Amino acid sequence: MVSTQQAELDKIKQSIIDDNVTPELASAATQLVFGDGDPNAELVFIGEAPGKNEDLQGKPFVGAAGKFLNEMLEMIGLDRKNVYITNIVKYRPPNNRDPLPEEKEVFLKYLEKQLEVIKPKLVVTLGRHSLNCFLPDLQISLSHGRPLRFKGRVFLPLFHPAAALYNGGMRQTLIDDFAKIPIILKKIKLTS
Ligand code: URA
Repeated sequence: MVSTQQAELDKIKQSIIDDNVTPELASAATQLVFGDGDPNAELVFIGEAPGKNEDLQGKPFVGAAGKFLNEMLEMIGLDRKNVYITNIVKYRPPNNRDPLPEEKEVFLKYLEKQLEVIKPKLVVTLGRHSLNCFLPDLQISLSHGRPLRFKGRVFLPLFHPAAALYNGGMRQTLIDDFAKIPIILKKIKLTS
């Protein structure tokens, strides 16, 4: 049976198509990459935009960065099925260029709706695009690994797995920050 939350998420997905959001991106992409995982998850991960593999498979983080993300989830005893993973921008930007400010802005409203349905305890932003969507004044280099409360949500800024993949120092920092997730979640649960 489809859960109520999943049905709500399906409606948001359909509304992106019906609203004809970013028609240029939509026409160049194979498909909309909306999100994947548990619609009732305590943890939501938000990346930047789909890449080539995600565009082809219709799921976020299924390429090299996704494999690394899966490994880090395993490290803290979780599986993709236990969390929810999405991106700010839901169509692949051509040639993997950075999403434009107006593309991020137009998709933010749908991302907010996704979060309203899922109601996660912790929102993990992956990379600066995702962080700055919610908290435009923060620098990822200074704020990574430190949870913060903002507008009724708890965010944990992390480096993007694709950026950290081939950079030894950043990779270890991301792994160390990721390892804090269970402790942060536990604290949130104790105080909420
Ligand atoms: N990078 C992202 O930001 N999102 C994906 O889905 C894949 C790679």
